[in-house]
Amino acid sequence: MLGMILPADVESEERFGEAPGGVLFPEEEKIIARAVEARRREFATVRVCARACLARLGYAQVPILPGVGGTPTWPAGVQGSMTHCAGYAAAAVGPMPPISAIGIDAEPDAPLPDGVLNLVATPAERDRLAVTQQEPGSPNWDRLLFSAKEAVYKAWFPLVGEWLDHQEAEILFDPLDRTFAVALSRDGLIVDGRPIRRLNGRWARQRGILVTAVVLGSA
Ligand SMILES: CC(C)(COP(=O)(O)OP(=O)(O)OC[C@H]1O[C@@H](n2cnc3c(N)ncnc32)[C@H](O)[C@@H]1OP(=O)(O)O)[C@@H](O)C(=O)NCCC(=O)NCCS
Repeated sequence: MLGMILPADVESEERFGEAPGGVLFPEEEKIIARAVEARRREFATVRVCARACLARLGYAQVPILPGVGGTPTWPAGVQGSMTHCAGYAAAAVGPMPPISAIGIDAEPDAPLPDGVLNLVATPAERDRLAVTQQEPGSPNWDRLLFSAKEAVYKAWFPLVGEWLDHQEAEILFDPLDRTFAVALSRDGLIVDGRPIRRLNGRWARQRGILVTAVVLGSA
């Protein structure tokens, strides 16, 4: 499903179901040594996915270590993003240039826990959700909103290196196109020398999983 919402020059790999795990490099083992088994498996599974993407782009198998703020460190010449949730793990990696940043996020297609929406949604987003959330057969828009913001953050942080608050990115979904527009209320994001305040993303839903993607710099 992830491949459907990414540009053709971005490689992706995904796993549905329980994270199977996989072989880690010793440097990665060290980082995850004290984690519980479920965290270890998801950490390993996304890295297997990421290395599959790297291989398709002609890159050697390398450790993918968490860097500043948790952002994954990619080999020179690529950008990427990883996500995992119960029942799903995925990675997306693309050549830089033209890709400047990638953010992907997966969430279960279930309502957000009580109280979370008020923290993450702007007043305008809450007003729109009050209408769309009622539509039968639609995704859980509150969760999709949360996911879109996480994807924005994962694209934003490696370029800017600063926190982005949920209230600083306003999401407007197009339910028919399965796209979303992002309006940032603060400066900081610069792509190819140009300050960026507006981004675009895409989303998909399959097998009880919602996935969102924001890619900067693709043709
Ligand atoms: C970092 C964060 C986005 C991760 O999202 P999540 O839904 O908790 O978890 P996911 O499984 O989808 O993603 C985890 C992966 O994100 C990546 N990641 C972590 N921190 C990151 C960062 N600062 N920048 C980019 N990617 C990051 C890592 O690859 C991580 O996997 P790993 O720990 O196995 O290496 C989230 O925990 C967070 O801090 N959110 C608050 C900030 C935010 O979203 N603001 C909204 C702005 S509009």
